[in-house]
Amino acid sequence: MEKILITGALGQLGQEFINYFSNKGVFVLATDVKDPPKDLPCLFEFADVLNKNRVDLLVKKHKINTIYHLVAILSANGEKNPYNSWKINMESFQNIIEISINNKIQKVFWPSSIAVFGTESNLDLVSQNPSMNPETIYGVSKLAGEKLASYYFGKFGLDIRSLRYPGIISTKTLPGGGTTDYVIEMLNSAKNKSDYTCFLNKKTRLPMMYIDDAVNAAIMLMSAERKNLSISTSYNVTGFSVTPAELENKIKSRGFNIKVKYEPDFRQEIANSWPKEVDDSISHKDWGWSCDFGFERTLNKVLN
Ligand SMILES: NC(=O)c1ccc[n+]([C@@H]2O[C@H](COP(=O)([O-])OP(=O)(O)OC[C@H]3O[C@@H](n4cnc5c(N)ncnc54)[C@H](O)[C@@H]3O)[C@@H](O)[C@H]2O)c1
Repeated sequence: MEKILITGALGQLGQEFINYFSNKGVFVLATDVKDPPKDLPCLFEFADVLNKNRVDLLVKKHKINTIYHLVAILSANGEKNPYNSWKINMESFQNIIEISINNKIQKVFWPSSIAVFGTESNLDLVSQNPSMNPETIYGVSKLAGEKLASYYFGKFGLDIRSLRYPGIISTKTLPGGGTTDYVIEMLNSAKNKSDYTCFLNKKTRLPMMYIDDAVNAAIMLMSAERKNLSISTSYNVTGFSVTPAELENKIKSRGFNIKVKYEPDFRQEIANSWPKEVDDSISHKDWGWSCDFGFERTLNKVLN
């Protein structure tokens, strides 16, 4: 029986994983460094992942056998304090790896990001393994994490599985300081009938994924037989790609009277080093991935 620890469980993705597993009756221990909502449907313990002893103790106490390690400082926030970002992203992952090996954890899920690529990749359509030169501390830490995942699988047999998520679109939970947050902000502005100032220019095309697909992709990857997985770093996955102008037009065509201004800030430079489209054919081949939510279906979910 799976007994799952989720770190960073109160973030955008974590809360969705909690709901998914709780609805299935799977044991989940949620951990984070902020207070949980009153209606959290699972057990919660306060734990800073930089405190290795605390996390180790919780793993032993609750007989955890699977870890979803979701703690990270995201792309835009990371640039504000790169030293701290590296520390949180990498030290926490090292801790989880060490704890997992010592406690014979069966599987670890650790999300990577499209931030790993950079302008040396063909950003019009990034392949699974192009030349990579990430240009944010977030991307640098994710690429290093991918290499660690592969190293610890090869040398210690630790079964770490990973996806390079694009921008995740959800409305129940707010995004945590990434470069694709504008999508959710613009959608929420439309629903709240308020104007919106977009921090990227109109034409910035970036890959996105609806939250249900993000959760489903992780579950599919975690359920796959390891022998079918040809990638031990992190798999490309995507839903659809969109620009702010396309999003604005679609929102308006659905009857929302939103005014959008475009005032690109430092996040534009980050977006310029990210892919427009992602080739996820190896995920299709290895573990049967395909997304359920395109642009229209995502808008149906979010705007209705
Ligand atoms: N959301 C996206 O669009 C996206 C895209 C690509 C990859 N990812 C990856 O998915 C994972 C989850 O992302 P998210 O959007 O849910 O992030 P988030 O910022 O919404 O949540 C992160 C959570 O980690 C917690 N946290 C921070 N420092 C901590 C610490 N020291 N100890 C314990 N908890 C701590 C925060 O309180 C927060 O609840 C991350 O690894 C992220 O890089 C997310």
